[in-house]
Amino acid sequence: MAFLSEALARVNPSPTVAITQRARELRAEGRDVIALSAGEPDFDTPENVKRAAVAAIGRGETKYTAPDGMTELKQAICDKFARENGLSYAPAQISVSSGGKQVLWNALLATLNPGDEVIVPAPYWVSYPDMVRMAGGTPVIVTGEERDGFRLTAGALEAAITPRTKWLIFNSPSNPTGAGYDRATLCALTNVLMRHPQVHVMSDDMYEHLAYDGFTFCTPAEVEPGLAERTLTVNGVSKAYAMTGWRIGYAGGPEPLIAAMRKVQSQTTTNPCSISQWAAVEALTGPQDVLATRAEAFRRRRDAVVAALNDCAGMTCQTPEGAFYVYPSVAGCLGRTSAGGARIETDEDFATALLEEAGVALVFGAAFGLSPHVRLSYAAADDVLADACNRIRAFCAGLT
Ligand SMILES: Cc1ncc(COP(=O)(O)O)c(C=O)c1O
Repeated sequence: MAFLSEALARVNPSPTVAITQRARELRAEGRDVIALSAGEPDFDTPENVKRAAVAAIGRGETKYTAPDGMTELKQAICDKFARENGLSYAPAQISVSSGGKQVLWNALLATLNPGDEVIVPAPYWVSYPDMVRMAGGTPVIVTGEERDGFRLTAGALEAAITPRTKWLIFNSPSNPTGAGYDRATLCALTNVLMRHPQVHVMSDDMYEHLAYDGFTFCTPAEVEPGLAERTLTVNGVSKAYAMTGWRIGYAGGPEPLIAAMRKVQSQTTTNPCSISQWAAVEALTGPQDVLATRAEAFRRRRDAVVAALNDCAGMTCQTPEGAFYVYPSVAGCLGRTSAGGARIETDEDFATALLEEAGVALVFGAAFGLSPHVRLSYAAADDVLADACNRIRAFCAGLT
């Protein structure tokens, strides 16, 4: 009898974590390494949010709460959805978990049976296909084209749908490409979905507030109200309010699905941290000006990084609408040899040699389902980004 489960055997270790770990090891050896591989804002949690958490501790809000979120937070989330997305949810249609990741996981575990298919547009956030497999479903990867800004098209979506399709996972702005779907592009997808009533939509809106140049964020249940009864609108405070460590994510959706997710959570983690929930209430109901200030800093960094990468021999980089990632192609670097003697045949070779020789950690595109690319997270200080881009430029110039 095998000790480890079959569910675990279906899962790959996270490549993002592996690269970040290698960067740590090199640092521990005394090497000067810049890690642009992790997906979290470099900014601090806003002071008003920290103070709300301290006050919650002071009041003794340190006990179990309702399993899928306390009333005050659910109400704040309903208000957020109404205010920012034009979506009308009642508190019973809200689920709060320990991060957006747990929200997605609860929904998949609560709904997937063997043979159920989940459409995952590539390039994808690394966790989607593995979570689907772990929950017993089958990910159906639909690969976007660089010429479409890596976006899922209506034709590709239509072709991927079968009678076994249970979910489409939709993510805009995207991790890893930063691509955002405007209303017209999203409408083309929701029109397809309206013809296939068995397909539910898991909309991962985690990067909603990280959008630039006047890009107007929109989400499927808002664009097509006819889809609301089969859409789970997922969001969280991790990225928008620099609260990755607090572990609060949430979703709005149909009541039966929310109840099923509550059942999963009540038998696993019980409830998200009570103190973090009070912090999230403050994040969602307190002053919001921090969102615009930080988005402006990210836009500035994005522009600097895109310009610098397009100046690197063998790399080309699109300008994405949002998130804090760029996803340049390294096609022009393949088939060459680095100054340190490494043969560059794949994007993984590129990322490995870049880390070992130039001390810059990026994540290779194969991890996200589309090569030959690398993902660079520009959630770092301007001077750090400038240093990293200079190193990448020198590394590329050294390829022969
Ligand atoms: C696209 C996407 N969805 C969800 C998450 C999970 O966020 P959380 O920290 O709230 O679990 C991440 C985090 O990297 C992400 O990139």
